[in-house]
Amino acid sequence: MAEIHSLAYAGFGVSDLDKWQWLATDIIGMQVAHRDEQGLTLRMDEYAQRFFLEKNPIDDILVAGWQFRSEQELESYVRELREKEVPVEVLSREMLQRRKVEKAYSVEDPNGFTHEFFFGHSEAGLNDAFRSKVLKGSFVTGDLGIGHLLPFAKNGPQTVSFYQDVLKLRVSDYIREEVQPGIVVDATFFHTATGRHHSIATAQAPSPKVLNHFMVQVQNMDDVGLAYDRCIKAGIPIILELGHHPNDRTFSFYAQTPSGFNFEMGWGGVVIDDRHWEVKAFNKMSDWGHKRNIVL
Ligand SMILES: [Fe+2]
Repeated sequence: MAEIHSLAYAGFGVSDLDKWQWLATDIIGMQVAHRDEQGLTLRMDEYAQRFFLEKNPIDDILVAGWQFRSEQELESYVRELREKEVPVEVLSREMLQRRKVEKAYSVEDPNGFTHEFFFGHSEAGLNDAFRSKVLKGSFVTGDLGIGHLLPFAKNGPQTVSFYQDVLKLRVSDYIREEVQPGIVVDATFFHTATGRHHSIATAQAPSPKVLNHFMVQVQNMDDVGLAYDRCIKAGIPIILELGHHPNDRTFSFYAQTPSGFNFEMGWGGVVIDDRHWEVKAFNKMSDWGHKRNIVL
């Protein structure tokens, strides 16, 4: 049974490319791969690109890019999608060049963005090693992918079923927290075959934006603290102060991007081995910290 390997890229539509370039390179520590009037592509490691940003007033997620280990696995996965009568598009040659992948298909998410399934991810080249202006260590990527995405669901049960039954992502766990009397946040976390605790999570919430946040992970704990200090110094709104999640056991903070949605920068984090993993429900988002700041 063919299955997604990892979350290998993400694309956002953003209105202010200059501010994003500064945030991505000088605060988060990514590297610009390509920049023109229409967009910006970013590196986190040896691959040619990991995030792409298109000039677009939507200021929200456009694409989640999921990698397969082989063309055969990709084809078998797409065949199963079509058997389930899911509309699947083929990416054109021009789109493949833009994404720097060999072969790809796309499917619409129920919440208004696109999932792309691909194989064959271009690397930047032997003489073009990744360089960060600010990180002491590196990003944790490789088989675990770029990090994770948290899109809000318009309809929670329908979106959970789409991720579980259609995309065949594996459920990691649940967090159900009463954030205010009578208001319960019910979040479901999903992992891929390579086991990053979650590559995507979702919760139903009334929100003008689909994307709540994207997360990147660093190898060196100091890089979380140093990025936090850079945000404070630059006046970037901190949405959740430093804290720790009980389910993925990540130490992190959340700050706001120029598009209004947030990024999470984290360290630590569980890699799931499904042979020993037990799916649990937690009753709080954080076991310490993550104090919420009100941003006016
Ligand atoms: Fe997160």
